[in-house]
Amino acid sequence: MRHLIDPTDLTRKETEEIIDLALDIIGNREKYAEVCKGKKLATLFYEPSTRTRLSFTSAMMELGGNVIGFSDAKNTSVSKGETVADTVQVISCFADIIAMRHYEEGAALVAAMNARVPVINAGDGSHSHPTQTLTDLLTIRREIGRFDNITIGFCGDLRFGRTVHSLIKALSRYEGVKVVLIAPEQLRLPDYMKHEVCDKNGIPYVEVSTMEEVMPELDVLYMTRVQKERFLDEDEFDRLKDSFILTPEKLKDARPELRVLHPLPRVNEITVEVDKDPRAAYFRQVENGKFVRMALILTLLKWAKENPANDGVFFPEGTLRNELQCSNRRCISNMENVDTLFRPCDDGIEKHRCVYCESKPRQ
Ligand code: NCD
Repeated sequence: MRHLIDPTDLTRKETEEIIDLALDIIGNREKYAEVCKGKKLATLFYEPSTRTRLSFTSAMMELGGNVIGFSDAKNTSVSKGETVADTVQVISCFADIIAMRHYEEGAALVAAMNARVPVINAGDGSHSHPTQTLTDLLTIRREIGRFDNITIGFCGDLRFGRTVHSLIKALSRYEGVKVVLIAPEQLRLPDYMKHEVCDKNGIPYVEVSTMEEVMPELDVLYMTRVQKERFLDEDEFDRLKDSFILTPEKLKDARPELRVLHPLPRVNEITVEVDKDPRAAYFRQVENGKFVRMALILTLLKWAKENPANDGVFFPEGTLRNELQCSNRRCISNMENVDTLFRPCDDGIEKHRCVYCESKPRQ
């Protein structure tokens, strides 16, 4: 059995096979209409969601399967103090596959370590969001036609935006990818992403302070919302919330082949006038999310049938158990009673990073 907690849990080849399967589903909807008959997906959403939860739900329904779950953990045993580990053991008795979104970083990994069915991370805090990445990749494939040799600008909240982290990880496995980071100082990409992901994979990145200066070079402009719910200081959010706003005027110098992506929801970072521009791909991107989740559910269920044992969580050699504490207060290792786990890291800055959330150890 395998899980999808981080985009790199899938090899580049497996990722492309899922994208290809999604394309086959798009072209042959009736062929897949009953393939999950009798199967149940559990959607465990501890954090608000529209697209992700409903696209998982419609994905399973279009495969002929059923869906159980919750969209507000307040009405569940979580409010009585049940841990993620216990909840997923219980849900494993009812469902064949789990999609979980949680505000604690590393929650999906803890779920994968304890479930008896495949677990899909539908977003863990500001850490990771691998199914949005599959959605983004399918969109890039359909709109641009390639993953190699693209220049992609990420704009907005690159610090807390989990979709940005996961997409950069996935693209860092391709040739000729260039990353342009457009963010205010306080919302810059985390260090581990720059050093362990970009530098290590030879992905060049530049940090700039306006979109206009890079617009003509971009193949993809990936806009993001400033993640209000992750700020501890409301005044800081107010200062940063209007940092970057995409308007038709700013797209004037962009290439005709540019595509604007956004994981949505949008607040004010793209004006509605941009929606009419054929380069605005964000609503097409939403539909791709359903097809790629259909492909993912099918793939994980197939792997679970081939190998039902839960042996899909690996820790690298040299991982330290219960020796260090995580510096990130939103990490599940600081919220629930789980072993602390630190993997070795050689990014020239840290020696170890938390397995759950990739933060450094507490000093
Ligand atoms: C994103 C998320 O939840 O991280 N939304 C989504 O899943 N499509 C982006 C966001 O909330 O800003």
